[in-house]
Amino acid sequence: MYGSPVVLVVGASGSIGRPAVAEAFRLGYDTRALVRDPARAKLFPDGIQIVVGDLTRPETLHAAVEGVTGIIFTHGIGGNDPQGAEQVNYGAVRNVLGTLQAPARIALMSAVGVTKPSIGHDWKRRGERLVRASGLTYTIVRPGWFDYNTPDQQRLVLRQGDTHWEGSPSDGVIARAQIAQVLVASLTSPGANRKTFELVAAKGAAQADLEPLFSALPVDPADGYDGIQDRDNLPIAGEPSTVVRDLDAVRGKFEDMKCNKQ
Ligand SMILES: NC(=O)c1ccc[n+]([C@@H]2O[C@H](COP(=O)([O-])OP(=O)(O)OC[C@H]3O[C@@H](n4cnc5c(N)ncnc54)[C@H](OP(=O)(O)O)[C@@H]3O)[C@@H](O)[C@H]2O)c1
Repeated sequence: MYGSPVVLVVGASGSIGRPAVAEAFRLGYDTRALVRDPARAKLFPDGIQIVVGDLTRPETLHAAVEGVTGIIFTHGIGGNDPQGAEQVNYGAVRNVLGTLQAPARIALMSAVGVTKPSIGHDWKRRGERLVRASGLTYTIVRPGWFDYNTPDQQRLVLRQGDTHWEGSPSDGVIARAQIAQVLVASLTSPGANRKTFELVAAKGAAQADLEPLFSALPVDPADGYDGIQDRDNLPIAGEPSTVVRDLDAVRGKFEDMKCNKQ
């Protein structure tokens, strides 16, 4: 991460956001939980900084991103509601990166099967693309089905290429607590930078050290939009003009800031 760690969790009130907040706090980070409903503050123990903001309204996000060195995105809605998918799954990434005024390390939760075309998946995938285009240090984690693992399935398996498209737990399963652990660990991992992977669990014990798992993976292509080995089935040439404009806006934004600081 850049500077002394202040971690913002986006989607903090959600089923992955809550354990991600707890894990960041456990590791001693100044931990900030972004919620849209102030009543959700009661979900968190003393010591967690609560900021109220609406992911779909960038003008409400300034306090959330002020001074952060790491951002964990765990927000989301399922299904194929086109407006919600665009405004929440994609809009949250666009609006938070658009509001951010200094480089921060990013951990973005996406989903296994995200490259299988659907309205919901396509908007999540476009959110991934914004992160890659930003030039920020990042890790994109595509978890399998939450908490469908059996108690003896704790051994983490990191896959690439988004090869499993069944849309059922046969695509992979993973405990929520382990997703949170991987997201938080990626923020400080040298080996996790510019990596995109599916995260599932297989039979066996959890690994104590995640670094060898991160380090073994190849990085995403420097000149592309997608994760390494992803199918090339959402070409930029066919993308909405607003999406192309958003990519142009984020590309180089943080590089310019680093230059201005020197
Ligand atoms: N379930 C699975 O097996 C699985 C597997 C892989 C990926 N995923 C994906 O993981 C994502 C999160 O799932 P989850 O089960 O953790 O969901 P969740 O518990 O409903 O959490 C979603 C979070 O996003 C926030 N959010 C939703 N709509 C919002 C909006 N309009 N404005 C601001 N914040 C909003 C929620 O805030 P509020 O508390 O205010 O509503 C909550 O903090 C989903 O996109 C899902 O598709 C799920």
